[in-house]
Amino acid sequence: MSEAGAGAGRREGFVPMLVRQARRDLAQAPATVRRRLSHGSRAQRAGNVAELRELAARRLPRAVFDYVDGAAGDELTAARNQSDLRALSIVPRVLAGADVDLSTEVLGQRIAVPLIGAPTGLTGLVHHLGEVAVARAVHAAGSLYVLSSAGSCGIDELARRSPGPLWFQIYVGPDRGLVRSLVDRARDAGYGALMVTVDVARAGARERDRRNGFTMPPRVTARSLAQGLRHPRWSIDFVARPRILSQSALLAGAADGGARPLAEMIGSQFDPALSWSDIAWLQECWDGPIVLKGVLRPADAQQAARLGIAGVVVSNHGGRQLDSAPSTIAALPPIVDAVGAELEVYMDGGIRRGVDVLKALALGARACLCGRALLYGLAGGGFAGAARAMRLLVDELALAMALAGAGSPSELDRSWIMGAD
Ligand code: GLV
Repeated sequence: MSEAGAGAGRREGFVPMLVRQARRDLAQAPATVRRRLSHGSRAQRAGNVAELRELAARRLPRAVFDYVDGAAGDELTAARNQSDLRALSIVPRVLAGADVDLSTEVLGQRIAVPLIGAPTGLTGLVHHLGEVAVARAVHAAGSLYVLSSAGSCGIDELARRSPGPLWFQIYVGPDRGLVRSLVDRARDAGYGALMVTVDVARAGARERDRRNGFTMPPRVTARSLAQGLRHPRWSIDFVARPRILSQSALLAGAADGGARPLAEMIGSQFDPALSWSDIAWLQECWDGPIVLKGVLRPADAQQAARLGIAGVVVSNHGGRQLDSAPSTIAALPPIVDAVGAELEVYMDGGIRRGVDVLKALALGARACLCGRALLYGLAGGGFAGAARAMRLLVDELALAMALAGAGSPSELDRSWIMGAD
């Protein structure tokens, strides 16, 4: 073809090419718009956990968001969990190499990141996929998930639908036969550890839930109907695939007690008379490792160590139980000093950034448990949202480790932290 011919060919092709492109763009526009507005995609574009929380606040009816986001009393402890973490500085080490390996070992199991999916009650209220979506997100990141005995998904179902490493969290109620049967089911389904929550001697005073009249079983009121209409996506999901409680002890508790605030209903599953001798009884029922969740005093951690408990979670239940309990990052170092050589110490509460995890690791936590951040993600975009929350935290942690000059969690120590006593 001559030069002129080729030029003419290009000119002839140019206009049709523009038209073709405009047609293609137009045809794709609805899909693009749909994709940009779609449930998962907004969450996938969130740049941090705070943005996922904002999305969750828009997506969930007020009462459901408040159940997840809220805490006890004036929410002092919940706020301190975050503000005490933020008050700490990280002192970087320089010229120390750039490779970062986030993996660590918990109770003999290697996990890719020191961030464990915390047990959260009634996760199916947030999204019908509930624990399945969160566990899958955590498993996809190479870590382990802890199923709550107050969760929306059954023990066997979760093991089947998200077959990665799982632990089972239990509230020990007065009906020990029921406790035993749940423990047996968890063992048979392959759960690797039993996490016993010990900070629920009574239900915490969740004032937002009270204000919202958030009860179990749910009561339909003019206000809840109005909220439902304002959140049609959540309502359709909830009506089409309602998932509140799994087939556990709590169903019985909910059924015979009439409508009660959620925290009260969960609290009623806990035996207020629970004592250390019951922990010894649980050790007879469960031959695997036991972790106590909700420990804030070194003396309690020492007692756990004396009993041969494998780990403790320094936790104030996300500020949802005793308001004015210390923040977990403040309570962590004395507990590590007291028992760090004898059992594994984990921490939860206030984790919203990768740097929060780094600070907890440097102060002696073997891993952090994360609850609300994953639930914000779940609310914002189902599995994709929960996975986004996990990815954000993991990426932020990897970057923080690299910038802090720490190659792995085991390298971190208190020399990295300024501002802790
Ligand atoms: C359940 O564990 C809750 O704190 O609501």
